[in-house]
Amino acid sequence: MISDAAIDRIAEREAAAFRAANPKSLALAQQGSAHWFQGVPFHWMLDWPSPVPLVAAGAKGAMLMTVDGRTLDDFCLGDTAAMFGHSPAPLAEALAKQAGDGLSYMLPTEKGVELGGMLSAMFGLPRWQVTTTASEANRAVIRWCRGITGRKKILIFNGCYHGAVDDVFVDLKAHAAGWEPRVRASLIGQVQDILPTTTVIEFNDAEALERELKKGDIACVLAEPVMTNVGMVRDAPGYLDTLRRLCTGNRHDPRFRRNPYDLFGLWRAQQCFWSQTGHDGDRQVDRRRRADGGIWFQRGNRRADGEVERVAPFRT
Ligand SMILES: Cc1ncc(COP(=O)(O)O)c(C=O)c1O
Repeated sequence: MISDAAIDRIAEREAAAFRAANPKSLALAQQGSAHWFQGVPFHWMLDWPSPVPLVAAGAKGAMLMTVDGRTLDDFCLGDTAAMFGHSPAPLAEALAKQAGDGLSYMLPTEKGVELGGMLSAMFGLPRWQVTTTASEANRAVIRWCRGITGRKKILIFNGCYHGAVDDVFVDLKAHAAGWEPRVRASLIGQVQDILPTTTVIEFNDAEALERELKKGDIACVLAEPVMTNVGMVRDAPGYLDTLRRLCTGNRHDPRFRRNPYDLFGLWRAQQCFWSQTGHDGDRQVDRRRRADGGIWFQRGNRRADGEVERVAPFRT
């Protein structure tokens, strides 16, 4: 057992080494404090355990360069936005070309039309919409799930992170008689009580999952297939299959089904976020964005087709 004092000593030693090796990052952190809250443009940049975050000077492939002239192997890869390497040449060229042709039109483009077809062909889902952040995708898809199922509750896993989505800022907290859901203290300014509409259970707890889903009032389950924001918590063998089965019934691969009586969503890769609603290929709404594992609709209690049509025109 390593004592706390020993851990503190090691942390201090490492912090001192960091300061000595990264003087420009330290100076820029101080300079940044003048105009950025806590010195950084995004608060989560302070989650690094170093005294201040390294200040990046550039990146290429799997390497990251800092203002202090250090070149590091980058295992973060822009939190997956650069999963295929920093600045791959074809992407850099396409972006540079587009930069000269205007960057924001508020209008569809010819390329966008082509891209829709490519997404559809690649992933087998016929209709697509785009959001610009994972948080935005999550918020949108939660609204769709609620709108279509007519249910208010969502189910999440303890310790999850789904971005700036108020609904999911709920943790299980220990108290004398067990565990209870509590709103995270960091959810500043939320005036609605989200506890009645957010169910939180432990990841990998199949019994709790079954118990909650059996109640039949969950609009969707929001999940990272591997919990990545409380350290790394792998799915227990069979857990994700159980989750899918409980949400979608016993069908093996719901993706290509066109069963008029089911709603289902699907997920398969850590970097993708899908949801699918509707049943006949004509009334489908898809969301895809990096980050979350996916979303499942619970089976049953589906509204009539016309209801799907009615919620569909609302912008999300
Ligand atoms: C699992 C997960 N979901 C959502 C988000 C939020 O992403 P964004 O900043 O694109 O809204 C993150 C960001 O770290 C994430 O790890």
